[in-house]
Amino acid sequence: MTPDDLCQAYLDFFKKKNHAFLPSASLVPENDPTTLFTGSGMQPLLPYFLGQPHPQGKRVVNSQKCFRSQDIEEVGDNRHTTFFEMLGNWSFGDYFKQEQLKWIFEFFLDVCGLDPQKLYVSVYEGNQELGIPRDAEAAQIWKKLFAEKGITDERVFYYGNQNWWSRVGEPANMSDGEPGGPDSEIFYDFGGKLETHENSQFADRACHLNCDCGRYLEIGNSVFMTYVKTKRGFEELENKNIDFGGGLERILAAMNDDPDVFNTDLFAPIIKVIENYSAGLYANQNDKKAIRVIADHLKAAVFLIKDGVRPSNKEQGYVLRRLLRRAAVKMHDLGGGLTPVPAFCAIAHEVMRIYAEKYFDENLDKVLFEEVIDEELERFGKSLNKGLKVLKKIKILNGKTAFDLYQTFGFPVEIAKEIASRDSKTIDGNLLIDFNQLKNSHARQSRQATIGKFAGGLGDQSEVTIKYHTATHLLHAALRKILGNHVGQKGSNITAERLRFDFSHPQALTLEEINQVETQINTWIEADLPVTKQTMNKQAALDAGAIAFFIEKYPDEVTIYTIGQKSDSDWISKEFCGGPHVDKTSKINLVKLSKEQSCGAGVRRVYVKFE
Ligand code: SER
Repeated sequence: MTPDDLCQAYLDFFKKKNHAFLPSASLVPENDPTTLFTGSGMQPLLPYFLGQPHPQGKRVVNSQKCFRSQDIEEVGDNRHTTFFEMLGNWSFGDYFKQEQLKWIFEFFLDVCGLDPQKLYVSVYEGNQELGIPRDAEAAQIWKKLFAEKGITDERVFYYGNQNWWSRVGEPANMSDGEPGGPDSEIFYDFGGKLETHENSQFADRACHLNCDCGRYLEIGNSVFMTYVKTKRGFEELENKNIDFGGGLERILAAMNDDPDVFNTDLFAPIIKVIENYSAGLYANQNDKKAIRVIADHLKAAVFLIKDGVRPSNKEQGYVLRRLLRRAAVKMHDLGGGLTPVPAFCAIAHEVMRIYAEKYFDENLDKVLFEEVIDEELERFGKSLNKGLKVLKKIKILNGKTAFDLYQTFGFPVEIAKEIASRDSKTIDGNLLIDFNQLKNSHARQSRQATIGKFAGGLGDQSEVTIKYHTATHLLHAALRKILGNHVGQKGSNITAERLRFDFSHPQALTLEEINQVETQINTWIEADLPVTKQTMNKQAALDAGAIAFFIEKYPDEVTIYTIGQKSDSDWISKEFCGGPHVDKTSKINLVKLSKEQSCGAGVRRVYVKFE
């Protein structure tokens, strides 16, 4: 079965049991400031566990893209990846343990063809202090299911917090209002096949389901979402829910009876590309970890870029930057060069090819990935070698030396730490605390220094870029006029050749809309409208209707640019902006929208050129 076939078979299996199909949510959560990424299938569904009716009913099924940044450093073994797809089925106050365990066993056996002799399960042992009983019911159901297959030896094992699921882990970490409950994990036993298991560390040692050696691979988890935490303790939910999640990559590994998820069709072709572009060989133990890291990180990077993330120094953007730069360091270690742009672009293309049917439009996305990779690696590649040399000479990596490396060479602190520990350097215990303190105080200083000098994000201020800058405001105004006021600028980039503009809008523009936008901008250009600048208080500017790209970026006193002002309430465009701009629109050449494409979930990108 191909990965796509397996995914489809799972969806079909639950569709036959009256589940409605739900498309994957974005990797960047919407309306959930508590977390940077979607890390499980249940995350976007939280309100429905608490009783809000789901528009598609009480049973849904999907395959959710997931990214777990907390696993970045785990990547390298046979089973951890930062990006994965989670097959999920949900019951919102509908069926419960009995049906779930029966169905999922049936799916693994009859659809995936797994040998029941190789399956083991875990259930919750309970917590007396919290008044939560052990899950004897789930254990009983499992025993019966195994017995029906003629398996009567011990298959069910009790664990504590490992068999409790909430978004934030164990019960003690949960805050009021958070739902959670006991869960039951299913493991596939690879026996002696696992390479680490043959190594001395685990040889001849009895291990158990949750042992770190990875002999038993968790391939699915049925969460019995039973409780909500309140001030009074754990209260049972009125409607009990099922949240099942199974990693597609891991299920494939079990079906292949091969413990290495990197050998599945979701990774093996990527590994071939890495081997082609470096001196590394996957069969070589010394190279294996680096190759796995590159394969995982670039796949994750491609999916994050697709969902609108761009490398930066904060939040999601910083994680993406770490992925790309860490992969670049590993590629360098493998002999893949200092600026592995062609290798990374080839890997990105391979990722796209593997997932083309489900997630990508090869023609549109190819250019997007190439641009982001190129820009980020060009920047980092130049300093990588120098940074590595400096790092070699450092005796102790502490907050100050790490910050210098970050400042001068763009080394994320985690990467500096990893290289330093590989090279057996001393690592100061306060490394991260000191580093973050220096970084924050530096950011404060540079913010203060740039207040008042903000130049609208223009790289240079030649005549043509100034014209493109004013065209950006007209474009923004035209998009809002034609598509609606939900359109907001997400980013822009101007070169001497073109203007690139990203904005929020849920779907592709039609040809007619593109024509309308283009005609509108050209009409305004021909109307020779005045472009005026005013300095005023930030609040007054907002009250006057000016739109701001990132409101928090502006000081109290701001400049705004207005195009075509006839009266206080009659104008074409009013934006917070440091300028500079042309003083009348007729100075701009007529424009053409040369390209329109997706730029992540709910974000479109257009290119504008002067005719
Ligand atoms: N929420 C559970 C998990 O992430 C099952 O979907 O493992």
